[in-house]
Amino acid sequence: MRPFKHLFGITDLDSEQIKYLVNLGHSFIDINRRSIKKAPTLRGKTIINLFFENSTRTRTSFELAGKRLSADVINISASTSATKKGESLLDTGMTLAAMQPHVLVIRHSIAGTCEFLADYLGDTSIVNAGDGAHEHPTQILTDLLTLKQSWDSMEDKVITIVGDIAHSRVARSHLIAAQKLGYKMRVVAPKTLLPSDIERYGCEVYHDFDAALPGSDAVYMLRMQTERMTDNCSIPSIREYHEAYGLNRARLNAAGSDTLVLHPGPMNRGVEIATDVADSVNSHVLSQVEHGVAIRMAVLAALCGGNDAEEIPPKRNRRTKREMEEDAMKSKEGFWS
Ligand code: NCD
Repeated sequence: MRPFKHLFGITDLDSEQIKYLVNLGHSFIDINRRSIKKAPTLRGKTIINLFFENSTRTRTSFELAGKRLSADVINISASTSATKKGESLLDTGMTLAAMQPHVLVIRHSIAGTCEFLADYLGDTSIVNAGDGAHEHPTQILTDLLTLKQSWDSMEDKVITIVGDIAHSRVARSHLIAAQKLGYKMRVVAPKTLLPSDIERYGCEVYHDFDAALPGSDAVYMLRMQTERMTDNCSIPSIREYHEAYGLNRARLNAAGSDTLVLHPGPMNRGVEIATDVADSVNSHVLSQVEHGVAIRMAVLAALCGGNDAEEIPPKRNRRTKREMEEDAMKSKEGFWS
């Protein structure tokens, strides 16, 4: 597999890297199910999670992923960061990078934030945990791992993604992944919730949900990203939206008894998905959450390398406390002379 320093998006990965990360994630599922959920893979590594947008699943899973692989993990959210005191994003990024973390995991409302910061943060690897309506690579790797658990192959499979495609970084990253891996995507949305450049992704576009259901191996529901709706993309009403674009029992039956139901969360029950469908045997929503931890372990391990035993000095070479104090005094003397 071609090594990579940052994970900005599915765009930057080739199909071999995607498969490698999904397979590596698969190998980590087991650790998360053990009673003692700890492996030494990232011992001595530092990971900082910097979240400027709300998150339950993604933030917690990055934190658990780092901790279960024995890294030191720090979490910073927008409300507690110095950006609240007027510091720029760049200064916050450079400040954190000066503390020498191995990885900075960033979620931000502005597309391209990670690429922008990477130019200034030296050796620190950056992982995109969602940037505006741009990309959300670890969610797609999570979904692929979930599908891998149910299907023998992606070949000829049809994933129908429904809802607010225009503002969804999950939809965008999936459309890019489908082109790289060769699975088929159907996109279902009212015209007002479709991106203007949808044609470039080579997917089938539907405005009628019922027409898209037959032959769908998975139906992937999306939340309306109201926090990003600054343009004129309103829907008539929640009730009408649910009637036209909500996944209910009748629609699930029309898709078929083997059809998988996915949702990246958080779900808005009664809007894009009916409660009985969200809790049905077809629903893999909680499996997605479980696999999210395994995938983030895979991404962190791929970026930080394995258990770099050679970086830990052999015991006999470790300095005594006294030697360290002597060294400290010498360096201080040097500094003041
Ligand atoms: C998604 C996101 O943040 O893009 N959620 C997630 O990461 N699990 C989708 C959403 O917020 O609707």
